[in-house]
This record gives sequence, C-alpha cells and structure tokens, in this order.
Amino acid sequence: MSSGDLRRPLTVALLGGGTVGASVARILTDSARDLEERVGAPVVLTAVAVRDAAKERPGIDPSLVTDDAAAVASSGVDVVVEVMGGIEPARSLILAAMEAGSSVVTANKALLAADGATLYEAAERNGVDLYFEAAVAGAIPLLRPLRESLAGDRVTRVLGIVNGTTNFMLTKMDEEGVDYDEVLAEAGRLGYLEADPSLDVDGHDAAAKAAILAELAFHTRVTLDDVYCEGISRVTSTDIHAAQAMGFVIKLLAVAERADGGVVVRVHPAMLPRSHPLASVRGAFNAVFVEAEAAGEMMFYGRGAGGAPTASAVLGDVVAAARNRLSGGRGPGESTYSNLPVLPVGAAMTRYYVNLDVADRPGVLASIASAFADNGVSIQVVRQDGHGENAGLIVRTHRASDASLRRTVEQLSGLDTVKRVLGVMRVEGEAGE
Ligand code: NAP
Ligand code: HSE
Repeated sequence: MSSGDLRRPLTVALLGGGTVGASVARILTDSARDLEERVGAPVVLTAVAVRDAAKERPGIDPSLVTDDAAAVASSGVDVVVEVMGGIEPARSLILAAMEAGSSVVTANKALLAADGATLYEAAERNGVDLYFEAAVAGAIPLLRPLRESLAGDRVTRVLGIVNGTTNFMLTKMDEEGVDYDEVLAEAGRLGYLEADPSLDVDGHDAAAKAAILAELAFHTRVTLDDVYCEGISRVTSTDIHAAQAMGFVIKLLAVAERADGGVVVRVHPAMLPRSHPLASVRGAFNAVFVEAEAAGEMMFYGRGAGGAPTASAVLGDVVAAARNRLSGGRGPGESTYSNLPVLPVGAAMTRYYVNLDVADRPGVLASIASAFADNGVSIQVVRQDGHGENAGLIVRTHRASDASLRRTVEQLSGLDTVKRVLGVMRVEGEAGE
C-alpha cells in the first residue's frame, strides 16, 4: 500500500439518526480533525438513513439524509454504523453491509442477544469487523477489556448494574421512600423509560446485556432465552426497609458466572451489602464488577445511556474499525470455543433473605428451621420482631443452590405456622463468595 493509500479518506455511513445516531453524526463533524489524526486518515460521513427523511435533524447535513436504508447498507463504505435498533430490518441491513465488504459498528443489544451468532459468522465470512461496545453499559469501556485486555485471564464472574432506568428507580425508593408506581411515573416524565417500559422494569433490557457479557466473558454462545429474568415490579417498601435494617441495598443485578461445569446467567433484584462497590452506584449510572482468576476484582463505572455517552462508545469502535481498514487487518473476532453448557438458574449458588409473618407460639421457630434443614439450606441469621398478634421473622441463609432455596420457600409457604411470606430475595456480594 502506498503512503497515498494510507491517507485515503475512510467512509462511514449511519443506519439511524435518532438519539444515538444524531450524536455520532455531530461528533464525526465536530471532531473531524482529531479523528483524522487518531485514525491516520480523514473520516468522512457519507449518509444517514432514517425512516422519515423530511424530519428536521439539527446538526446533520440534510444532503446526507435518506430513507433508503438498503442502499446505504450496501454502499460499500468502510464502516456502517447501525443505530436504528430492533431485530429487522437491522439484521438484514447489517448482513448486507458485511456482504458489501463494510465493517459494522452497532449499539443494538436486542439483536446481538437474539442472534449475535449470525452476525459474528457473517463478519468472519466477509473478513470484516463487528464491534458493539455501546450495546452494553453505554459509554463504559467494558466489552473491549473483556474481549482483549482479559483475553489472557479466566473470568469467573460478572456482576453488573446495566439498566440505568431501574437503578434510578431503586435509588429513589431507597433514599427517598418513594413507592414503585410514583417512581415509575417519574422515570417516564424524565424520558428514561424505553418505548416499551417492560424492557426496563421487567429486566429484559438487562437480560440482553447479560447475554452479551456472558458470551464474551466465558467464550460460550449465550442468547436472551438462556437468561433467567425477573424485574423490579415486585420490590416492595417492606423489602426496602428490611434491606436498610440489615445494612443492605436492593439493586437489579445482571449476574453471569461459572457454576457446576457450565455458566448461569441471571437478572433479578438482589440485596447487596452497602459496603459492596456496586451498592454506591446511584441514579441512572451503570457499573459492572468483574472477577477474574489472575486479575482479581475490577469495577467499570459510568453512564450507561444517553445520546452523547453512547456515541462516545460508538466512535471508539469506528476509530478501531477504521484503523484496521487502513492497516489491512481485522480486530479479534468472537470465539465461543469453550462451548460451556448454559445451566438453569437452579444451579446458581446464592444466599436468600426470607421475610415471614408467623404465628407467635412455641415451636414455630423449630418448624421453620426444619424447612430450611430439609432442603439442605443453612441459616446464617434470624431476626424476630412483633407484628401484632403474629411475629415477624427475617431469615438470611448461607450459600445454597437456587433450586434448594426455592424449594425451601415453597415448603415454608405451606406451613400452618407461616401466615404470610412477606418477601423473598437473593443476597449477593457478601464476603466469602
Ligand atoms: P432512536 O432515537 O429511536 O433512533 C432510531 C433511528 O433509527 C431513527 O433515526 C429512526 O428514524 C431510524 N430508524 C428506525 N427504524 C428504521 C427503519 N426501518 N429504516 C430506516 N431508519 C430507521 O433510537 P436510539 O435511542 O438512538 O437507539 C438506537 C440504538 O442504540 C438501539 O439499538 C438502542 O438499543 C441502542 N442504544 C441506545 C442507547 C440510548 O441511550 N439511546 C444506549 C445504548 C444503546 P426516524 O428518526 O425517522 O424515526
Ligand atoms: N433503557 C436502558 C437503560 C437504555 O435504562 O439503561 C440504555 O441501554
């Protein structure tokens, strides 16, 4: 390649010009000089495909805007950036871009979690890059460290707050005593909720991100269907107060870990000790705690959403893909060589908190203790206080399989000494795990 070739302009086209796409277009224009120096050649935006080409888009050159996404995808530019979202037509457009020889940068967690394999295979077949740093935890550099910096280590566990909206809601419930419905309405007013709020509050958005993290961390194919998913809609003020009284805070966690010769990937609300680094992650921020055999514990923290923060991650990928084009190579591809079985949540080892309303008479504690013992679950702490003519009992367990803890709760619910099960939640992040 001649030095003239080395300075040829690198072309970039956007599929999508919404919250993220508009910010990417703006940074490409405003930071053109810096990007040119960092890449080693000018980076030129050639087109922005949108649904409605007539809509005003401040900061985007109107002559670049088109509603012909198929033509943009197959235009053969160096890098196609997919920021339109959804499964189709995004998947077909990405595949068309790769067939045309373009590297692809995407922020589309839903597509990657549903059918990442098809995209990875197409990238391999066509000898192009597929980067997706923005798909998990927005601006936070997280996937590249997992893919590259930790490639010589063995990751054992990833524990993260990867949905900013639910973290905002749980923070308000914890700090201000606001109830679930009130804080859900506030998240809506602030524009935090996805168009389908269930993606946030029922944990599906976090589950898609957990699948992507697990796949990279454990070199094993993981899709959204493999992820156990429970949202925050059943978190009550009773749970919040109980957590506070015990020195815990409730977070929606995405957990991907090795267990029983396989991996378990789960998303659910959990109690964390207030001393845990993830406990201090407030509001709409994200953070991911990674444990690896040689490196030990690491935490990645920052903004998980928003146009500019997400565009920062997209641009980092664009620069990486552009540099690879200039050097005539490719970045590291995906490898699922470990091919570990993805196990059901029952195989996960967790601790539990169980809050019970029980009859206040002799022998009650013994009947409850034997429900735990029958299922091989060891009790760590029991706290009792009055609840009118009944007694309130909070039990925290040692680590046991999720399946045996569930069986314990079922058995407790059937005891005549137990009036009501007021709350049940997993406890993560205690010392000794
Ligand atoms: P958005 O604001 O809804 O923008 C989507 C863009 O895609 C719009 O410009 C829309 O055109 C265009 N589009 C949608 N369907 C199209 C189609 N069939 N043909 C042509 N254009 C189409 O979405 P966003 O918030 O920027 O999110 C984009 C992606 O980034 C999603 O995958 C999302 O999950 C991911 N992401 C977003 C964030 C965030 O904070 N927003 C954070 C991380 C990841 P119109 O403008 O004409 O409607
Ligand atoms: N709904 C997501 C969140 C947007 O709240 O984190 C970023 O993926």
